[in-house]
Amino acid sequence: MRKRRIMALAMASVMALSLAACGSTAEEATEAADAADDAAAEEEAAEPAADAEVANKDKPLVWYNRQPSNSSTGELDMAALTFNEDTYYVGFDANQGAELQGTMVKEYIEKNIDTIDRNGDGVIGYVLAIGDIGHNDSIARTRGVRTALGTAVDNNGAVNSDPIGTNTDGTATAVQDGTLEINGTTYTVRELASQEMKNSAGATWDAATAGNAIGTWASSFGESIDVVVSNNDGMGMSMFNAWSKDNNVPTFGYDANADAVAAIAEGYGGTISQHADVQAYLTLRVLRNALDGVDPDTGIGTADEAGNVLSDDVYVYNEDERSYYALNVAVTADNYQDFMDSTKVYEPVSAQLDEAEHPVKNVWLDIYNASDNFLSSTYQPLLQNYDDLLNLNVDYIGGDGQTESNITNRLGNPSQYDAFAINMVKTDNAASYTALLNQ
Ligand code: BGC
Repeated sequence: MRKRRIMALAMASVMALSLAACGSTAEEATEAADAADDAAAEEEAAEPAADAEVANKDKPLVWYNRQPSNSSTGELDMAALTFNEDTYYVGFDANQGAELQGTMVKEYIEKNIDTIDRNGDGVIGYVLAIGDIGHNDSIARTRGVRTALGTAVDNNGAVNSDPIGTNTDGTATAVQDGTLEINGTTYTVRELASQEMKNSAGATWDAATAGNAIGTWASSFGESIDVVVSNNDGMGMSMFNAWSKDNNVPTFGYDANADAVAAIAEGYGGTISQHADVQAYLTLRVLRNALDGVDPDTGIGTADEAGNVLSDDVYVYNEDERSYYALNVAVTADNYQDFMDSTKVYEPVSAQLDEAEHPVKNVWLDIYNASDNFLSSTYQPLLQNYDDLLNLNVDYIGGDGQTESNITNRLGNPSQYDAFAINMVKTDNAASYTALLNQ
């Protein structure tokens, strides 16, 4: 926009000069210049409109929540991550969080060893709700829990993260019976069952499916279930409400959604905050910086003029991966009071940017599944708080969680937007989006 205004002003002075050369009066020349200036001002008032001079393929792009990667091997899709010079990924450190989740469950068992084994069979049994077998966060969490509880089995140098179905007899090959040494006694830990919570339409991380699964498991071996673990709170809360709350079985999730944090007071075992308040900020901030043409670290590691800045205990940036990762924090009975409001902006990055310096820009942003608990109840409300602070006019597109085309069909006119924030259904599918921007 600024570029166009400069052009209009330049034209006005050229006109003024030529009018003067033709012998017109100075007054006429000034009028002509004013008219051109008015036209430029009018155009500016019609803002925001995408800057037509920038090709879609060169516009800032941020992938978030689902990192472009091979869903079987986890290998990063560097072509997508380096699509143009203003491309980034924003997520969180999946391994650090997964380790925290595993440790949180283990520590709970250690602390409550006198009461945890409900049927007194000497086996501490847990069931595990898996979100999406092809999602790196889900894989990491399954591995983190199995590693901490000693049930992990190696598979080509990495922990096997496959679901096992049911394993009440301990014969499954994707896991093993673990042992925990507590106060000089050795206890057996068994993954009694695990399953990918995918509904019949294909949506993953499906809370309703998890609620049904715990019902099925409980009716056949409920007495043996001492702990319930879930790859996220959406599924965890569904299991808690369906069964574990009434049966006093500690249930652990991930995401620190507000309902899960509140449920800690009622026996929910704990959750992990993936610092969505920091991630949502970073998601929009990297776009803002690219649109402003400033140092990419502005308002991130380096304070901006409004004072926004993140300290390095809440995120890391990996230059080679073009990725920002927020750091996770365990939320348990000891500290849950501090996490009750999951949609509150993070105070160190809550200052409003000046609109004169950071004019309003249009952003297209999708959420892969409008009914994903974490994204809809935590992430999107946070994005909506930050978009105002950063002067971004964001169009939020909610997908059905099943097919990429349901979302890409709604990116019919990328030229209308100045920047894009993308949350894929499947981490392998980055090219379905970049193809549209390349057109
Ligand atoms: C969250 C899950 C969510 C998934 C969606 C994960 O990072 O923890 O709750 O369902 O992202 O992609």
